[in-house]
Amino acid sequence: MKFFIDTANIDEIKEAHSLGILAGVTTNPSLVAKEGIDFHERLREITSFVSGSVSAEVIATDAEGMIEEGKELAAIAPNITVKVPMTLEGLKAVRAFSELNIKTNVTLVFSANQALLAARAGASYVSPFLGRLDDIGQNGLDLITTISEMFIIHDIDTEIIAASIRHPQHVTESALRGAHIATVPLKVIGQLVQHPLTDAGIEKFLSDWNKANN
Ligand code: E4P
Repeated sequence: MKFFIDTANIDEIKEAHSLGILAGVTTNPSLVAKEGIDFHERLREITSFVSGSVSAEVIATDAEGMIEEGKELAAIAPNITVKVPMTLEGLKAVRAFSELNIKTNVTLVFSANQALLAARAGASYVSPFLGRLDDIGQNGLDLITTISEMFIIHDIDTEIIAASIRHPQHVTESALRGAHIATVPLKVIGQLVQHPLTDAGIEKFLSDWNKANN
């Protein structure tokens, strides 16, 4: 499983990139709005150093509008992936993008049937939202398992992005259940690194070294 970072904040993207683990970036309208920036300008900035997929979401709700917007986004850089919401209009747009060889990430996926439809419309990626399912008392991780099994049975090559990740267990379980990618906030990447025994081990090594060398 690869790592994308889920943010529109340039410092966070640079930090994740410097760790050497970054395979791509996902943004959404809420994340972009939080930054108070020009979206296209920010995408140019991100794609100047991130070579993997950078998801940019359309705002239009009709297929025609989505296609127009998506074409403009895709023209910014060859690694832009157009993020499209899981709706009937979204499916039409995904089919059109697929015929134009523009990559798509179908977002706001909350059921296996939605994922299957998105894949059949030609989506490059589907994004099931784990945390938001957990929030309403459903098991987000079980959805990853179901989609993964379904795609294997039917030999579907659409990649599964585990999204709306809230904690390290989501990451481990997504990897075990067959997600190809987890898109993770920087805070969670930090949590993945942490282990109290690592900290205690470093402290002990340094104190032993200092005792012997002072
Ligand atoms: C994914 O592409 C979305 O941007 C994101 O993971 C949503 O996460 P949230 O539920 O924490 O807003």
